[in-house]
Amino acid sequence: MQNPKTQNNMKTIFDKTAMKNLNLKNRIIRSATWEALAEANGHFGEEIYRIYDELAAGGVGCIINEFTSVYDDDYPHEGMARLSNDELIPDHKRLTDTVHAHHVPIIVQLAMDDYQGMRIDELTSDDISAIRGLFAKAADRAVLADYDGVQIHAAHGFFLSRYISPAHNHQTSTPETLIIDIAKAIRANHPDLHISMKINCSDFVYGGLDENGSLRVCRACAEFLDSIEVSGNGTSVSGIKAGVNEAYFKRFALVLAEKVDVPVILVGGHRSIDNMNVVLKEGRIEYLSMSRPLVCEPDLINRWGNSDTSPSKCVSCNMCYSTPGHRCVFNLRRGG
Ligand SMILES: Cc1cc2nc3c(=O)[nH]c(=O)nc-3n(C[C@H](O)[C@H](O)[C@H](O)COP(=O)(O)O)c2cc1C
Repeated sequence: MQNPKTQNNMKTIFDKTAMKNLNLKNRIIRSATWEALAEANGHFGEEIYRIYDELAAGGVGCIINEFTSVYDDDYPHEGMARLSNDELIPDHKRLTDTVHAHHVPIIVQLAMDDYQGMRIDELTSDDISAIRGLFAKAADRAVLADYDGVQIHAAHGFFLSRYISPAHNHQTSTPETLIIDIAKAIRANHPDLHISMKINCSDFVYGGLDENGSLRVCRACAEFLDSIEVSGNGTSVSGIKAGVNEAYFKRFALVLAEKVDVPVILVGGHRSIDNMNVVLKEGRIEYLSMSRPLVCEPDLINRWGNSDTSPSKCVSCNMCYSTPGHRCVFNLRRGG
């Protein structure tokens, strides 16, 4: 067990904790957020460094960057980051240096969406070992770029999310083996690197991964991981209001945290300190991660720490998905 879990009723968001190699000044993690600012070849423009500088200065305990493709020929989401070849390592090193200057650890979210246009059921065993190799090689680059950890993106319909979904994978009843093999390959080369996984508690589609399936995958993978972040399809639910409908994947995360010995991170709809502390005290969830509130207010955690404890100003409109640099529509200071 990597991180003896704190007694529930003692936890607050501002606890200093250690999670394997990560030292966090609070329990708040920035969840992966696609900025859409990389060039087609994967190189970063200047704007991305400004965003991360502002974010790291704003008080979060740890940052998970954004879906970062392990494969040069992946389907190009607009402005998608990549760590799919060695030429990109210096760009990522500059990013980690920017964040580390604020003494904040940073994790790269390793992802793949498309593999050669193939459906999951068409993959051969050679394809699957090639895919394992792509993730392991990207993790090698992540270490060279000084990331403190990697997050295996197995949520939100990305390739590994589809791979573990019974709606897509009819080849095997134990698809989690691929995630385990990826994690083992990474750990064999980098035993001190933090390895996280982001997973759907449910795909919320007929025949897809459901809560029982997700629990089974998490339990099988846990011993090869250092943390698990719980999300779900339809990840950025709109219309969230403080004290009304926060923490919308909490029920599953509470169950999971009882069943695995690695820290559970819960994402989705955290908007107020009061509710976040309730979630921490309610059970064995150790960390809370946020995306849109930090798009809206990159310095939200400092604001909360400096006694203005009013809830996040984020109205969960999801307009940040369509602004340049995925900035808040109420805050288009730069890049807009
Ligand atoms: C603009 C934007 C980009 C996102 N990009 C990613 C991503 O790259 N990887 C990922 O796993 N989730 C991504 N998400 C989902 C968030 O990490 C998070 O799971 C979701 O927004 C719910 O948390 P929130 O209520 O704190 O925003 C993104 C969300 C937004 C708003």
